Amino acid sequence: MKILVIGSGGREHAIIRKLKESPHVDKIYAAPGNGGISCDAECVDISAMDKEGMVRFAKEKEIDLVFVAPDDPLADGMVDTLMANDIRAFGPHANAAVIESSKVFSKNLMKKYNIPTADYETFDDPAKAIEYIEGRNKYPVVIKADGLALGKGVIIAKDPEEARAAVKEIMEDKKFGASGNNVVVEEFLTGPEVSVLAFTDGIVLKPMVSSKDHKRAYDNDEGLNTGGMGTISPNPYYTDEIADICMKTIFEPTVSAMNSENRTFKGCLYFGLMITPDGPKVIEYNARFGDPETQVVLPRLKTDLVDIIEAVIDSKLSQVNIEWSNESTACVVMASGGYPLAYKKGVEITGLDENGQVDGATVYHAGTKLEDGKFLTNGGRVLGITAGGKTLDEALEKAYAAVEKIGFEGAHYRKDIGRTK
Ligand code: AMP
Ligand code: GLY
Repeated sequence: MKILVIGSGGREHAIIRKLKESPHVDKIYAAPGNGGISCDAECVDISAMDKEGMVRFAKEKEIDLVFVAPDDPLADGMVDTLMANDIRAFGPHANAAVIESSKVFSKNLMKKYNIPTADYETFDDPAKAIEYIEGRNKYPVVIKADGLALGKGVIIAKDPEEARAAVKEIMEDKKFGASGNNVVVEEFLTGPEVSVLAFTDGIVLKPMVSSKDHKRAYDNDEGLNTGGMGTISPNPYYTDEIADICMKTIFEPTVSAMNSENRTFKGCLYFGLMITPDGPKVIEYNARFGDPETQVVLPRLKTDLVDIIEAVIDSKLSQVNIEWSNESTACVVMASGGYPLAYKKGVEITGLDENGQVDGATVYHAGTKLEDGKFLTNGGRVLGITAGGKTLDEALEKAYAAVEKIGFEGAHYRKDIGRTK
């Protein structure tokens, strides 16, 4: 098979590494890919949003399967366009990807189908949002831009001033563009967070092993929210008992809710959960694999990923038995100085071999490019250094030992991955 993977981050690198293990696969292309990915796949210079370019390329190369990994092309109908051109594609249609691309949609879905989530109201008028927040008078309060915002559109306001500033930033200054035309104002929940990715063909849902992301930029969960600074799998707070509750009250109800709305979801559905004192609740849905969750989840997958993808597309997921290793995995993200705010690009990375790897761990490249045999930084999150072990401690020790070997000017990473709630 010839497979085309759309995207250019650490998640896509991890997907490509797993696809390479499949005996079905002869050739992998990545569009547009990155420096590290170019060591594992042929990178082609097509933007992840270029639907016509993608169709043309897939036809020309007789691609058997396209894996659409990022949120933007999914929300924009990349899968719809590919399928309409008789190209097999993995990922939800745009009308189902809306479960991620509109928080107003997903909150209303959960309310309608009684899926546990934080209490909320939605607003399209900043004055009304502020009036509601001040009338409610409970802090912290959570303010979310409706649309996609690179994982940064959520503001937790400690007092009325911060809340007013957040509403202004999102709705008036349009910090996240049109994503801020509407906002969700919701109750602040507490408890450990869990990420659960699940394969679903719209009929059955098969959860993958759990993971835990670390979203804040700095140690002790300080600093701004980022796309994710590191992950571990399994998540120690996700017990079998919690998993059962989630299956019954969240996962299966979500699949059937989407069917009831004529928005059947096929692909990878991501549940961002919080284990609150009142039980697990949904913080957010994503319509895709998480980044950097994928970097710790897929290395544990023992079943052929291509078989699973084909079963999802053909609505035969019930027939596949998915197996996972018992090991623990950890991923430490090395980011550019300044991320998630402004940062420099083009800084040389030292310590990597000619394939962009180091001994003792797997280096998933997120924001890198390869120029004249040198790896240079090319994004906010640069590398995700991942290792596995019998225990979480062993995995963390190996991942951090590998991080020590790598350097670039301004590099920052969290030292407490796997150590915080
Ligand atoms: P989201 O992009 O919706 O996943 O939100 C980003 C992060 O903000 C989450 O991972 C949580 O840490 C935090 N967050 C979002 N919603 C809430 C909430 N209702 N209560 C507490 N924290 C939240
Ligand atoms: N790591 C969070 C996400 O992929 O949205």
